[in-house]
Amino acid sequence: MPLPLPTATNRAVVTGASSGIGMALAAELARRGHSLIVVARRGEVLQELKERLESQFRVTVEVRACDLSDPEKRAPLLEELAGREISILCNNAGIATFGPVAALDPHYEKSQVQVNAVACHDLVLAVLPGMVSRRTGAILNVGSAAGNMPIPNNATYAATKAFLNTFSESLRGELKDSGVNVTLLAPGPVRIEEIVEEDKTFVDRLVPDRFWVDTTYTARVSLDALARNKMRVVPGPLGQAMSVAGNYTPRRVMAPIVGRFYAKLGEGQAEG
Ligand SMILES: NC(=O)c1ccc[n+]([C@@H]2O[C@H](COP(=O)([O-])OP(=O)(O)OC[C@H]3O[C@@H](n4cnc5c(N)ncnc54)[C@H](OP(=O)(O)O)[C@@H]3O)[C@@H](O)[C@H]2O)c1
Repeated sequence: MPLPLPTATNRAVVTGASSGIGMALAAELARRGHSLIVVARRGEVLQELKERLESQFRVTVEVRACDLSDPEKRAPLLEELAGREISILCNNAGIATFGPVAALDPHYEKSQVQVNAVACHDLVLAVLPGMVSRRTGAILNVGSAAGNMPIPNNATYAATKAFLNTFSESLRGELKDSGVNVTLLAPGPVRIEEIVEEDKTFVDRLVPDRFWVDTTYTARVSLDALARNKMRVVPGPLGQAMSVAGNYTPRRVMAPIVGRFYAKLGEGQAEG
């Protein structure tokens, strides 16, 4: 099934639309004529996005400033979405931490599980019954290549992304012939913005520029994949290499190798 056609009443929901991949997904959906509900904590950034997209394209953009890490704060959003005609859900909002779990802020680690996994699950549960009964809908879950393998020093993130990767690909199997498409976007590194040489982090320097993909490209190939109901989309050569390595290398071999690399990222975060 291609993507549901945009109508005056239906809406595509994008979480984490105030930055990076989410903002690019919102822009690409608007370019394709879809009216939107955009979600993130920073309402003022979403408001600017609304003004930009509404002036550029013939779409309506509704702003919902919401902290998805808080079950009480996301409850009204879930209730609203369950009652709306949601044509597309892009479950994109996500956060990451680097370093040993024992040294990280427990509150933020719990927030990470809420944003990356529980809220995504809640959002699917809210919109799916409507999509199934209308026999049309599309869900893009933004997991990660990091969800394919154990990653010491990125444990909570890798585990939450493993949840979303597996949930997405399992759900897709249940929805065959239902009219609802489900695609997992499992990227490797995606460059969120241009960075000048002196601002480059350890990972920016380690990964040559030609291996990075940008958010506009990521959004375009992801929505194309969703329209074709592909099981998984992995933009760019590095993400694809990570995907193969993560899926086919024995986990006990992979864990110490990636663990050393992510320990470096943890040091970078501590310095930053
Ligand atoms: N960039 C990469 O290399 C890469 C690679 C693999 C996977 N991914 C995944 O792709 C997704 C987008 O990543 P990105 O790099 O574009 O990230 P980003 O630029 O940091 O954007 C994250 C988005 O999530 C929102 N968000 C964070 N915490 C939130 C909360 N508590 N409630 C509501 N919204 C929240 C942020 O908005 P507010 O701050 O306004 O709330 C922001 O819009 C994430 O799921 C990430 O794990 C990214």
